[in-house]
Amino acid sequence: MKITVINGTALRGVTYKLKEIFLDNFRDKAEITEFYLPKDCPAFCAGCKTCFLRDENMCKDREYIAAIEKAVLEADLLVFASPSYVFHVTGAMKAMLDHFGYRWMPHRPAKEMFFKRAIIITQCLGAGEKSAAKDIKDSLSWWGVSSVKTIGFKLMSEVVWEKIPERKRRTMTDKLNSVAKKTLIALPRKPRVKFAVKCKFFIVRAMQTGLGKKDPDYTDYKYWKSNGWIDKTRPWKR
Ligand SMILES: Cc1cc2nc3c(=O)[nH]c(=O)nc-3n(C[C@H](O)[C@H](O)[C@H](O)COP(=O)(O)O)c2cc1C
Repeated sequence: MKITVINGTALRGVTYKLKEIFLDNFRDKAEITEFYLPKDCPAFCAGCKTCFLRDENMCKDREYIAAIEKAVLEADLLVFASPSYVFHVTGAMKAMLDHFGYRWMPHRPAKEMFFKRAIIITQCLGAGEKSAAKDIKDSLSWWGVSSVKTIGFKLMSEVVWEKIPERKRRTMTDKLNSVAKKTLIALPRKPRVKFAVKCKFFIVRAMQTGLGKKDPDYTDYKYWKSNGWIDKTRPWKR
């Protein structure tokens, strides 16, 4: 079993601690690959649109993105961990997600994503853990992932793990362990592909069919055509 983890901060703080508690349930059962941002994706998307219009391999940051993408595509479980910064994911996490815009359904989604499971761990001091999780969930759902579980915490007291009251730490630990145990049971089974994901696929398929009629050399259309998605093949039927 393979797990790929994207850490939205390189700090060994509360987010790190929560993610470690979750991963401890998998250590002897899974090969775990971790990325720490911004170290493993230090550059912002420049907005050149080369990935959309021509080829993702021409991105100036391809070496970072290729390493993350390989691990994401190979994983059985994806784990994203981020504190909430002003109600959203860290800037580093957002910068990484921007680089995967070309993997959104209207462009060139990877067929591997349709059967992935993902866990999002977010926390904040008082408010914003839900909107931070949504930032990641938006990308995951548009990448084609159906099974996304979010675990969010409001610390409400302290931002240093050791100073958080014991009872609160225990509650968070129990929640993380409980989700990890359920995930371990679910992992051997393929997740159900959601109706909403299929709807997105069919809407984009109609769009790509139209674009292909106008310009059969259009990058995204050629991708959809070569996967057989304009015809009868579906990414969730293997
Ligand atoms: C720049 C910045 C912005 C933050 N914004 C919020 C916020 O909007 N709401 C909130 O409740 N906590 C906020 N926090 C607190 C974090 O969500 C988090 O609880 C804290 O950084 C501890 O986590 P860490 O040790 O993983 O960094 C912010 C922290 C930082 C550094």
